[in-house]
Amino acid sequence: MNKALRKAVIAGNWKMNKTPAEAAALINEMKPLVAGADCDVVLCVPYVDIPAALEAAKGSNIKIGAENVHFKASGAYTGEISAEMLTALGVEYVVIGHSERRQYFGETDQTVNLRSLAALKAGLKAIICVGETLEQRELGYTETLLKYQTKMALTNVTKEQLKNVIIAYEPVWAIGTGVTATDEQANEGNKYVRDAIAEVYGADVAETVTVQYGGSMNAKNAEGLLDKEHVDGGLIGGASLKAADFSVIVKAASR
Ligand code: 13P
Repeated sequence: MNKALRKAVIAGNWKMNKTPAEAAALINEMKPLVAGADCDVVLCVPYVDIPAALEAAKGSNIKIGAENVHFKASGAYTGEISAEMLTALGVEYVVIGHSERRQYFGETDQTVNLRSLAALKAGLKAIICVGETLEQRELGYTETLLKYQTKMALTNVTKEQLKNVIIAYEPVWAIGTGVTATDEQANEGNKYVRDAIAEVYGADVAETVTVQYGGSMNAKNAEGLLDKEHVDGGLIGGASLKAADFSVIVKAASR
């Protein structure tokens, strides 16, 4: 086991927050605070904020991502955005399969897989989210579910493409609730994800894949979570909307 084989990645997921002007202001505030970080720093922002975010982040170590992508290249899909539209702007990352999309927008394991394939084909780095609900955890299905979601998301993803995949373990019960998984629960969930990758691609490959934890990660609890063997970074919601808090998490991941 060697954590050094994996890139630490701290990504903010702004969800439906910030206008373009607010996005630029927040990034300008963050830039000096995260400069020189020894981990990858990503901000995934609403579609309409992307141009302003890219402009504000120019010349810094902050990379910009989107929060979703459609799985078709083009066509009659009113309201949707293709992977090529994102790469044409200079977007490098995209969040796929967030639990809020699964819960409110009919996202399924199949569409998560299709979006992942489209994103990877276009050269985007995919941050694919998996995670169990409280009910599923209490029924004892956490390992089975995380492995299933991980394998479904990665169906037909090649070993080469896997280099551009990050999996974010986000227990649904910990998202936006202030209830964080314990360090051990986060490590265990991330290990189930890694085990699933190992079952498909082999243990050596699985050791190289970045697996993030997400769910009420904040300036106070980040260090303990990020110290864990299988926690290679974080996907941060609320705390990524505050420059000071986000920069503390980035520092905790810099090693
Ligand atoms: P919070 O950090 O607000 O709990 O959100 C986590 C999340 O959903 C990141 O994608």
